Amino acid sequence: MEPILTVERLSVTFDRYGQGLSRTGVSAIRELSLTVEPGRVTAVVGESGSGKSLLAHAIFHLLPGNARMEGTIFYDGAPLTARRAAELRGREISLIPQGVTYLDPMMKIGGQLRRGRRDVAARTRCREALERYGLGPEVEEMYPFELSGGMARRVLIASAVMDAPRLIVADEPTPGLDARAAKRILGHFRELAEEGAGVLFITHDLELACAAAHKILVFQEGRRVDEVPARCFQTGEGLTHPYSAALWRAMPRNWPEV
Ligand SMILES: Nc1ncnc2c1ncn2[C@@H]1O[C@H](COP(=O)(O)OP(=O)(O)O)[C@@H](O)[C@H]1O
Ligand SMILES: [Mg+2]
Repeated sequence: MEPILTVERLSVTFDRYGQGLSRTGVSAIRELSLTVEPGRVTAVVGESGSGKSLLAHAIFHLLPGNARMEGTIFYDGAPLTARRAAELRGREISLIPQGVTYLDPMMKIGGQLRRGRRDVAARTRCREALERYGLGPEVEEMYPFELSGGMARRVLIASAVMDAPRLIVADEPTPGLDARAAKRILGHFRELAEEGAGVLFITHDLELACAAAHKILVFQEGRRVDEVPARCFQTGEGLTHPYSAALWRAMPRNWPEV
């Protein structure tokens, strides 16, 4: 199967200035390669600070100004340049950002989801997207400050999937949601994949990755240390890297009986 997204030897470096004029590059992501296939959920699992959000932002060319990026990103067979990413973002390719501050505080939710469109089709899609995530039509008339954290999360997700994107990058999409709500949302990601989208699901939570993903990439300090089918984390077999094996042993279900 042809990947919908290919990341090739991606490196992200920050310049750090020392005494006088000395400058050293600190690499946050080093020579990372990965693919996301249509119809599949690919999870990236890594602890806090391992470079997961930088990966998400690099794909969309949304890195902070002091970051340098090397490597190539292909979307649907062609290089995903900054310009192409800007054109496709919010339509064919969609980012669910980690922070809910990405919602516009001055604009009602309905308007944000419809992105200015007022036609009947857009209104219907908006209502359906909210409903899919357990939000009623009254939410359209609300401003972000009127939403609870969990509602704001679900609005971000609804907004990201409203136009049936072909690639969804979800950066820790479920913090602040209880286990049931989180599982339900991950179920929706599986559905979106079944409908043909490629999903890149970024999380620090291996249990969630196991529940949702077909393939799991283990990320440590900006490097990919392992890539295995999700079932390897069910049994613990086929985990080639000691760090993956340690993560597996740390899962509550694998704790030794006392
Ligand atoms: N704007 C920045 N300037 C300098 N360093 C940064 C910046 N953003 C992130 N980093 C560094 O890159 C590393 C990875 O960050 P991030 O991708 O946010 O981690 P994660 O999402 O896995 O928690 C962090 O250790 C952080 O120190
Ligand atoms: Mg992050």
